[in-house]
Amino acid sequence: GLPDFSPAVVIGTGYGAAATALRLGEAGIPTVMLEMGQLWDTPTADGSVFSPMLSPDKRSMWLKERSEMPLASFLWIDINTNIERYAGVLDRVHYGDMSVYLGRGVGGGSLVNGAMAVTPRRSYFEEILPDVDADEMYGTYFPRANAALGVNEIDRDWFEDCDSYRYARLSRKHAEKAGYRTAFVPSVYDFDYMRREEAGEVPRSALDSEVIFGNNHGKRSLDKTYLAAALGTGNVTIKTLQEVRDIRRSADGTYRLTVRELDETGGTVARREMGARHLFLGAGSIGSTELLLRARDTGTLPGLGEEIGQGWGPNGNVMLGRANHAWDLTGTLQSGMPALGIDAWDDPDNPVFAEIAPMPAGVELWVSLYLAITKNPARGHFTYDAASDSAKLHWTAEQGQASIDAAKVHFDRINGVNNTVYRHDLFGDTRAFENRFTYHPLGGAVLGEATDLYGRVKGYDNLYVIDGALVPGSTGVNPFVTITALAERNVDRILAEDIRS
Ligand code: FDA
Repeated sequence: GLPDFSPAVVIGTGYGAAATALRLGEAGIPTVMLEMGQLWDTPTADGSVFSPMLSPDKRSMWLKERSEMPLASFLWIDINTNIERYAGVLDRVHYGDMSVYLGRGVGGGSLVNGAMAVTPRRSYFEEILPDVDADEMYGTYFPRANAALGVNEIDRDWFEDCDSYRYARLSRKHAEKAGYRTAFVPSVYDFDYMRREEAGEVPRSALDSEVIFGNNHGKRSLDKTYLAAALGTGNVTIKTLQEVRDIRRSADGTYRLTVRELDETGGTVARREMGARHLFLGAGSIGSTELLLRARDTGTLPGLGEEIGQGWGPNGNVMLGRANHAWDLTGTLQSGMPALGIDAWDDPDNPVFAEIAPMPAGVELWVSLYLAITKNPARGHFTYDAASDSAKLHWTAEQGQASIDAAKVHFDRINGVNNTVYRHDLFGDTRAFENRFTYHPLGGAVLGEATDLYGRVKGYDNLYVIDGALVPGSTGVNPFVTITALAERNVDRILAEDIRS
């Protein structure tokens, strides 16, 4: 069940939510976190918590009858499989020309993501959020977030010798031949654990192809870092399979939530109400935006403004594969956690940061795969659809074209110098570039527009957005460090000015 009231309620358990809840708990504020997904800590009959990556079972996906891998095909053969409908860990939400991958469960995206923990370049951070004090971010909040997340760096000597990153060294060789430089990417996957995986000393996870359906070992997901610390304060509780549907305001100024309790197949167990004095929306770019739009357009929070639902972007994500020569082996062992990127962000015309992604199938595929992050100024927006009682994202394929064009400039050059070609068999049809999905949804309730400069929602007191919805569509690198550091900054201010006083 749920308590009838809590001084603070946090919706979601992803990055923004986890950082906020820890600091509320440390300050002595009783806090309830409501998470629609499950807690992932119990092994099932096969001895593991999460589904195997290469033979996905019901644990892999959120309420789907078929797995939905980002690589739809190989040699045009559909690689997805039928599964049982279940409250699994990875969701893919479809909106016309764009679909969004999301983590569901205690820890949100940290359960399914690639663990790349990248602090954005300061000059770009200042460009996207010019009114946020960058000295304070880079002096205090990025270091605080990196420390609490457990970010670590790969041992460079091991990287050069290991089998696990042969695929990354090959891509580096091709990139350097074309004049590009590469950069190591910090991670919240424990690189020392990975080294022991390769040495055969511990059970394998990253080296057993695990990534998007959860890691059974090695990853410092939020349930092991921020959320464990939050629970440790004794002031924070987490309620699972609780989906917040509606938010309204009582006459006394507190918030009332309608919460749907789900069963493991998505059915409704109960609908309950719960109250909060301070309400923090950490349901992610898609989730928090939807809650606010629904509240505005159904009239439960009519004072919300036009900025809600604006300023959304996919962080310029584009995926592509290159075909390697027969003599250029990526290796059959590929770490599921990327550790290197091709850094062309300084290119004034086509800034691109391309992570060198694994294709961990356990056999040599002669493919180099990349997830490019590009700087695309196009932005989508959401509207509320009354018929389905949900938010609809408006984003067209044309809006994504600039991202493909930018990535193509660099990969054409890399292919030209190395005499290689694109793969055309990976994304369901014959396209070489896939930009119809994103791992990095950002925006919808942008900092300084839908909220003030600390995430306070305009038009209402004691109502806050604390997650990726605040980031204006792009951060130039993988986003979770940015989201976490902004939450650290904002909760500091909110505690001091709105709660303690
Ligand atoms: P996040 O999405 O993490 O959490 C929101 C939580 O709220 C979820 O647990 C959800 O179930 C819950 N929720 C939503 N609506 C709700 C409701 N109405 N009621 C109750 N609960 C609700 N980033 C990065 O920096 N490095 C990387 O390597 C990767 N790789 C990567 C791979 C894949 C496959 C994905 C899907 C994503 C990534 N990312 C990434 C992106 C990163 O994971 C993402 O940016 C963050 O998780 C976003 O954090 P938020 O706090 O915004 O929400």
